[in-house]
Amino acid sequence: MLMRTVTVFAPATIANLGPGFDVLGVAIEGLGDWVSVTIRDEPGVVIESITGDNKKLSLDPAQNTAGIAAQEALRLIGVSDVGLSLRIRKGMPLGSGLGSSGASAAAAAWGVNMLFGSPLSKQRLLHASIVAESVVSGWHADNVGPSLFGGFILIRTYDPLDIIELPTPFGLTFALVTPEMELPTRQSRAVIPQEIPLKLHVAQSGNLAALIASLFGGSPILLGRAMQDVIVEPARAPLIPAFEKVKASAFEAGALACSIAGAGPTLFALCDDAITGAIVAGVMQEAFSTYGGLRSSTHVARVDQEGARVVG
Ligand code: HSE
Repeated sequence: MLMRTVTVFAPATIANLGPGFDVLGVAIEGLGDWVSVTIRDEPGVVIESITGDNKKLSLDPAQNTAGIAAQEALRLIGVSDVGLSLRIRKGMPLGSGLGSSGASAAAAAWGVNMLFGSPLSKQRLLHASIVAESVVSGWHADNVGPSLFGGFILIRTYDPLDIIELPTPFGLTFALVTPEMELPTRQSRAVIPQEIPLKLHVAQSGNLAALIASLFGGSPILLGRAMQDVIVEPARAPLIPAFEKVKASAFEAGALACSIAGAGPTLFALCDDAITGAIVAGVMQEAFSTYGGLRSSTHVARVDQEGARVVG
């Protein structure tokens, strides 16, 4: 007999990780969204409630990534005689660069698939989640990919969609610092140059290749050295007050790398243990306050290896 309700948690993510704009992301522990999906007798998707969003998100299923992903998953499964009701609990700051819209989409798509006996492949679940993400922030899978599958995810191509699950070899810790400011993804994507000089492409490719190589048995030091973005970060940095000061403070406190999480404004710092992570998060928070006049929240986390999962 089919279940009628399932609750799924999907983790927050850090996209890009320096040089991997739109092609690389990682899931992180301790932050994420919960979506409860219930089968109802009437066709169509409704959103019953959303909590943890300060009333910022739409209850209209066509405007909400969980609603869109659920609808798309239903369509892919081929169900039209019954519908779904969703309850969403947001567990991370919205519009912060930590994949909030992607986590809701991933949790909803995963939940629908579970309710109907898991007929959808990983590829199709990813497609349903990207369709949803594209409505709010463009066609990219570097948030929804890791939120669905956990760990580090590389998107080799979008057409055809080809994703590669990468290993997580070290006890890495990420220090995340989210300043209290609005930075819509669309604004953050609008400043990126559409054309780049060949020498920047060469530098970015070298770093991305070294980053991937380091995950297959290199060292955390190499991973940190490779997390440099010479194309997108310089374009986005002026959108984040005191970016350079905060980044410099992270390195002074022992971080191996520091860049913008996804479209920002959260900054992430890569650290090789949790104690350094806590120290780095503290000095970055202090720097945001001193030089940018911004309050911020911090989170220190390891990689979430599991991705979306049923929790109730
Ligand atoms: N790769 C995307 C970007 C992630 O940086 O714009 C946005 O969530």
